[in-house]
Amino acid sequence: VCSVGPEKTVVIGLAADSGCGKSTFMRRLTSVFGGAAEPPKGGNPDSNTLISDTTTVICLDDYHSLDRYGRKDKGVTALDPRANNFDLMYEQVKALKEGKSVMKPIYNHVTGILDPAEQINPPKILVIEGLHPMFDARVRELLDFSIYLDISNEVKFAWKIQRDMAERGHSLESIKASIQARKPDFDAFIDPQKQYADVVIQVLPTELIPEENEGKVLRVRMVMKEGVNFFNPVYLFDEGSTISWIPCGRKLTCSYPGIKFFYGPDIYYDNEVSVLEMDGQFDRLEELIYVESHLSNISTKFYGEVTQQMLKHADFPGSNNGTGLFQTIVGLKIRDVYEQLISQTTGASLEAAKA
Ligand code: ADP
Ligand code: G6P
Repeated sequence: VCSVGPEKTVVIGLAADSGCGKSTFMRRLTSVFGGAAEPPKGGNPDSNTLISDTTTVICLDDYHSLDRYGRKDKGVTALDPRANNFDLMYEQVKALKEGKSVMKPIYNHVTGILDPAEQINPPKILVIEGLHPMFDARVRELLDFSIYLDISNEVKFAWKIQRDMAERGHSLESIKASIQARKPDFDAFIDPQKQYADVVIQVLPTELIPEENEGKVLRVRMVMKEGVNFFNPVYLFDEGSTISWIPCGRKLTCSYPGIKFFYGPDIYYDNEVSVLEMDGQFDRLEELIYVESHLSNISTKFYGEVTQQMLKHADFPGSNNGTGLFQTIVGLKIRDVYEQLISQTTGASLEAAKA
């Protein structure tokens, strides 16, 4: 975690494979910061950037150095570092963090080529989302907080089928083939970034139903690094204990297969972490308040804020399970990190002014 000077931009990294819920997460995050982010007005309609009052989200696909034709020509995928310009990514994220505007390229997902650059002004919060926010050590150093969305192969497959078969008319075979083709580069260049993340959200098939692999019921784990500046991991009942909790009963309605929580310490890539896990799904979202009231360090500003956020976006994918719950909580934690970084800065500059 880096410190920020007066009026400096706080930088958040969000890593995941494409089609793994980054944009849904971004919508939850910008809502916590008080306003939906929208494409820049009057600019290129194919811009990948989203802007709200506080937050600018840039898509790291814009730093592709090889376009779709270049990649085909050279036989490299978009996941390969050789298809991406990390020098430019570093320079521009650094400049934004220092409060300077940049002219950022646009990767046009429709045409597969690079469009003329767009101007990006330094926001209060800059989110860099995409395949490689934690790949380059220099870029990584600029991140004040980082998240990795870790979707297991089974679930990724189920989501892809849902989207690409139902909405885009692809065949089952072609979806399988495209996932297989990406896998070696995914394993080599994307997956290892999770060791650097402050929070990893793992999405796995449920363990409540034997042989369930359709990705309908999910087991979601929030892996939170210990010792990160301004970030206190969430806990259930008693910090540091190991707890298994089935909240179903008088106060929470659960139909088959029920809901199961787990909380406890663990080691993840040699780091001490706390893990909070939820398996199963909510029948009635209002009753989430019962679960929320048993969680601590969730960085809410008032009682019930998590439940309120979840109800507000009940139509987003994952709102009835741990994906939506943990994405919402991470949004609140990021707000907290942001506010602490800013108050530290303001404090420091007041000190400087006095001296
Ligand atoms: P990305 O921005 O990473 O490409 P999206 O947020 O657009 O991903 O999600 C891609 C698709 O994956 C969605 O249309 C939806 O079908 C599925 N999806 C994403 N998040 C979830 C979730 N939490 N639960 C179920 N399906 C999801
Ligand atoms: C990844 C990247 C995209 C790229 C896509 C397909 O999902 O995030 O930027 O467009 O792969 O790449 P292709 O080389 O098939 O166009």
